[in-house]
Amino acid sequence: MAGLKISTTSLYSNNLLSKVKDNTHTQRERESKIKGISLFSGVGVSNAYLKDIGIEIVAANELLEKRAEFYKHLYPKSNMIIGDIRDEKVFKQILTFAIKEKVQLLLITPPCQGFSLIGKNKNEEQILADESNFLIFKAIELIEKCDFDYILIENVPRFLTVSFPYKSAFKSLTEILVDKFSNEYHIEGNILNARDYGVPQNRPRAIVKLYKKKYSWS
Ligand SMILES: C[S@@+](CC[C@H](N)C(=O)[O-])C[C@H]1O[C@@H](n2cnc3c(N)ncnc32)[C@H](O)[C@@H]1O
Repeated sequence: MAGLKISTTSLYSNNLLSKVKDNTHTQRERESKIKGISLFSGVGVSNAYLKDIGIEIVAANELLEKRAEFYKHLYPKSNMIIGDIRDEKVFKQILTFAIKEKVQLLLITPPCQGFSLIGKNKNEEQILADESNFLIFKAIELIEKCDFDYILIENVPRFLTVSFPYKSAFKSLTEILVDKFSNEYHIEGNILNARDYGVPQNRPRAIVKLYKKKYSWS
């Protein structure tokens, strides 16, 4: 994921994680790990390397059984919650886990086909007709009900410019997040490209970061 290097590097520099090193960490260092939940986890490609910098993805949610099974194979210690995030039971399971385990980081990588410009020439009307484009609002509901320190959202660039119906108007995702969370969180949305972060791929992505005002994340 394009924004990952930036985000994780800066989490690291917050000194929360600076002493965590695989295989050598002490009990105290282990406890200083940041706990995260991965929504729309797929098989967990976006989770790769997070462990190396002290982020433990303690739970994940994925709709498709096969992807979830593969995720479990790759990350056997993480709790996989299989099912549709819009299903009340599934949502409650994620919520309860986040609160009980005092999870600090939420990673959100919703389906992007609905917003992508690849293959089809979609207009705004078609985008709004696709229910999967509204899954982000379940993640927003989770943010409202929990107390995450850091939230990272990744998607295709168009995700930042499309307008969603919100409070009798049309607003971009960033505008909605600012309206809901700017009292508590710094909010930054950018288009970043994987090629600028040491990845041999020309892959522009929308990266939105929310972080509690007492923290920095540069
Ligand atoms: C863009 S992919 C995420 C890829 C993932 N970040 C990775 O690294 O493999 C979005 C994922 O969301 C899942 N998904 C779609 N609708 C969902 C829903 N209603 N509830 C939970 N997961 C869903 C898809 O099956 C897909 O694996």
